[in-house]
Amino acid sequence: MSDPTFLWKQNAPVEDVIEACRQQSRANDDVVRSTVKDLFESSVISLSYKARMAKLVQQSFNEDEELQDLAAEVLASSYLAPADNFCWVDYGETLIRLINPYAPQNTQLIGDVIGLLLWEAEICVLEWLEAHPEYVRDSKILEIGAGVGLAGFAAVQRLGAKNATLTDTNSKVLENLEVIRKRVDTGDSINVECLEWYDLNSLGRFKSHNLIIAADCLYDPNDVPTFVQMMKVLLNHPHRPVALLACSVRNRNTFQKLIDELNVSGFELEPSPVSPEQQRYSRRTTHMFTKDWTNSRVEIFLVRALQTLV
Ligand SMILES: C[S@@+](CC[C@H](N)C(=O)[O-])C[C@H]1O[C@@H](n2cnc3c(N)ncnc32)[C@H](O)[C@@H]1O
Repeated sequence: MSDPTFLWKQNAPVEDVIEACRQQSRANDDVVRSTVKDLFESSVISLSYKARMAKLVQQSFNEDEELQDLAAEVLASSYLAPADNFCWVDYGETLIRLINPYAPQNTQLIGDVIGLLLWEAEICVLEWLEAHPEYVRDSKILEIGAGVGLAGFAAVQRLGAKNATLTDTNSKVLENLEVIRKRVDTGDSINVECLEWYDLNSLGRFKSHNLIIAADCLYDPNDVPTFVQMMKVLLNHPHRPVALLACSVRNRNTFQKLIDELNVSGFELEPSPVSPEQQRYSRRTTHMFTKDWTNSRVEIFLVRALQTLV
């Protein structure tokens, strides 16, 4: 039987190493685990070799949690290496482009950085859309404060939405959304536009959507009144659009302020549980790209205007 450690030290093709591991695994799981661990930790093996190895480990040993976690970390660090600060991540068949949250220049959450990261509420919105196809199929989606736009892109590319308008106010964030849009080439079914919540007079042009999605948009309590005013304009259409809000609750008072203001402004709020999938995502590669998994809780609710609002 070939020894996988010997093989990878000889720089053998990854496939041969994996095959040797497979054979070993029939004999002894611990040998495989320590071989793969040694390989991942080795400083003389290139990152690309490790990444290819990690992908094969993910496919070949999908029952082994420890190996899966190791492989996930290796893959994440290989994604997070680019010199230009951006990386492409294939998130469940949706390609997004974002910056590395661990690079020293990105650890201060100011300005562009916030919207060039993926936040957990966005993943929760995506999971909600996956679990509620009746809201997505053939719908026209407006995403506000889109950041890297994972949920909006996925809605059109995979979940049957008719079209999506992805919006934000930050110019770097809008540029990034445009780069992703061009790369995924969805024709004219996705467009990227500036939508600034404080520019209430400009909101009249957004009127054909039936589903508004907003993930992790409210972290500053001062934004709450304007955000609610914006909702009034965007939901106040005869065809009764619905908004799906996902809030990362970092500060209970800010969250409560939002709920209170929506209630007194004549909206109906329907809480919706966050999927247990969150558990899974907190373990796998994606958590390496995502801020907040341990620090906050996401609350999701649907918002509708009870009647025509004034
Ligand atoms: C925490 S990020 C969330 C991004 C994305 N939805 C996610 O969850 O990954 C908040 C986003 O809201 C945008 N934003 C903040 N204030 C805004 C405003 N006044 N008008 C429009 N967008 C705003 C930011 O530029 C940023 O992209």
